Amino acid sequence: MPATATLARDTAASSKSRYREVYARWKSDPEGFWGEVAREIDWSTPAEKVFEPKAGIYGRWFVGAECNACHNAVDRHVAGGRAEQAAVIYDSPVTGTKRSITYRELQEETATLGAVLQEMGVVKGDRVILYMPMIPEAAIAILACARIGAIHSVVFGGFAAKELATRIEDAEPKVILSASCGIEATRVVPYKPLLDEAIALSSHKPGDCLIFQRPEAAAAMTEGRDHDWAETVAAAKAAGRRADCIPVAATDPLYILYTSGTTGKPKGVVRDTGGYLVALKWSMKGLYGIEPGEVWWCASDVGWVVGHSYIVYGPLLHGCTSVLYEGKPVGTPDAGAFWRVIADHGAVALFTAPTAFRAIKKEDPDGKLMRTYDLSKFRTLFLAGERADPDTVQWAEGKLGVPVIDHWWQTETGWAIAGNPMGLGALPVKYGSPTVPMPGYDLDILEEGGEPVPANVMGTIAVKLPLPPGCFPTLWNADQRFRESYLVRFPGYYNTSDAGFLDEDGYVYVMGRTDDIINVAGHRLSTGGMEEVLASHQAVAECAVIGVKDELKGEVPCGFVVLKSGVSTPPNVVEAELVGLVREKIGPVAAFKLAITVGRLPKTRSGKILRGTMKRIADGDPWSVPATIDDPAILDEIAAALKAKGLATGASA
Ligand code: COA
Ligand code: AMP
Repeated sequence: MPATATLARDTAASSKSRYREVYARWKSDPEGFWGEVAREIDWSTPAEKVFEPKAGIYGRWFVGAECNACHNAVDRHVAGGRAEQAAVIYDSPVTGTKRSITYRELQEETATLGAVLQEMGVVKGDRVILYMPMIPEAAIAILACARIGAIHSVVFGGFAAKELATRIEDAEPKVILSASCGIEATRVVPYKPLLDEAIALSSHKPGDCLIFQRPEAAAAMTEGRDHDWAETVAAAKAAGRRADCIPVAATDPLYILYTSGTTGKPKGVVRDTGGYLVALKWSMKGLYGIEPGEVWWCASDVGWVVGHSYIVYGPLLHGCTSVLYEGKPVGTPDAGAFWRVIADHGAVALFTAPTAFRAIKKEDPDGKLMRTYDLSKFRTLFLAGERADPDTVQWAEGKLGVPVIDHWWQTETGWAIAGNPMGLGALPVKYGSPTVPMPGYDLDILEEGGEPVPANVMGTIAVKLPLPPGCFPTLWNADQRFRESYLVRFPGYYNTSDAGFLDEDGYVYVMGRTDDIINVAGHRLSTGGMEEVLASHQAVAECAVIGVKDELKGEVPCGFVVLKSGVSTPPNVVEAELVGLVREKIGPVAAFKLAITVGRLPKTRSGKILRGTMKRIADGDPWSVPATIDDPAILDEIAAALKAKGLATGASA
């Protein structure tokens, strides 16, 4: 399309969108706005106050209200005429299975599993950890916890035993729900040995574990502690045991989701109940433009926040059919997998990470496989989890012929901070930008001193307090860490730790993190956590981990290590051990494959490691010698070490 035609189309789109009006309405009366959305949720007790500024750390939403998330996601629809509609479609190319679960069946399953948990002694407020692959039982378990007022904490299957142990230690679950194995594209991953090891490592021990046995790998059971999922649930069903939905306070935690912090100790992001339901409900229509009854597919994992919000809670609250996919974008069996799923189930939208599209584009650059499927119902592709590079967005747009919508959010927020509101009328897409702040989010770009900067100037993206409904009120058992991590740096604001800018039209650009978090294939990881693992190796004197550009995964970690003097083990042996150690301690999801031994690390005169400059060198970007450097020659040594590994480096300016 010629530029003028694009401009005319974009101007028309802009003037038709109700976004500016809706955003202004929210800004002028936040309580009125959210109070109105809250009418779409069933409350057993309505709120005394939509927002109470004196409660909690920065105020609390829907104080005095009571509700139940499972009732709103399941029972309400059974009563309201959707009983026979599919609530969840499980599509698993790795096991060759497809299974549809109606809202009525989902109610039956969650009520039974809820009763099983109650028999194990789980009561309102107790924590239950889920270490589960992408099977329907994971969604059922999440909802069963919500049903009985228990707080679930899902741990992603790609994390190793030690990471799971840290979460068990912190959340102190009464019960753990798990499965015998997960199934990756090329291998079966036995979960049970990892679970057993994690429980052994943790000083807190769960009372019971419920294990879903999968035929691909049977798990050995621990007498007295482990129970067979299918047998236990069947017995409860036969006995007619069912749990009712128990109302909880809107401000009670629905779940804890651990996410990478700047140290090896993950942060337990707390999600409260009422505000989350309200925000998700708004987003399904306002942001995603989805109608109740439609088929929605979020190809993430229940272990991530995206999976919590848009595989389980969001689509079900909205009365949609949610596709739960156990497979990959490529390799299960090919780069046409996504199109096959969309066509088979009539999905109107897909939400995934840009990495998935980079993987598809790499294997099927011409999009040939796409053309063999009926994608006529498909309306919109949503991308999030990492920066959506314009090349990938344009490729997807060109091949699919539907809008490709980047949106930006974090585990902490639970739903999008910025996006293109399809339900209000789309705004023109600007490549490289996730478009505009959603109602609820008032953004400023702040300079180091905390002053807002003008349009098009980079700084830290900060959200004016209070955060909207759905966002975390605190960290689990760590109010002080919450304040220190997010609120102290810029008083009156939530510090997103993302850097970026706003342009003259109020579009947000998110360019990267201001802390040590990196994003690997849409997975959030802490380089600080990896450094702790490397430093624990007896041969390592010091180390630095940086994220380097990767065509497929966006970024991959690269660890530079200095060995202790007198170490006789050859560097390549130590490097291989370090790769193995990170996999063992953090998990395969860290994708840590690159450890490089160097003689010294570049530092400032005050001893700070110059990670930024190392990254520019490793990314192949031009770099200059920082004025504060202690010894400039070390930068050349870093470049030489990268070259010795066959990696490209940037030139010094
Ligand atoms: N259980 C066990 N292991 C897992 C796992 C799980 N749930 N998920 C990933 N892993 C393993 C992988 O098998 C891989 O192991 P390997 O080193 O033995 O190959 C490792 O963790 C790294 O995984 P990943 O970075 O995802 O790479 P991949 O090669 O398996 O797949 C993509 C590459 C692009 C297909 C994949 O990253 C992808 O689909 N990304 C989209 C991410 C996403 O949806 N993010 C959610 C945010 S919206
Ligand atoms: P997570 O908490 O795992 O969802 O990761 C959140 C981080 O991922 C954010 O702080 C960003 O750094 C990055 N991120 C997520 N979505 C986007 C996006 N659309 N554009 C740029 N970065 C993103």
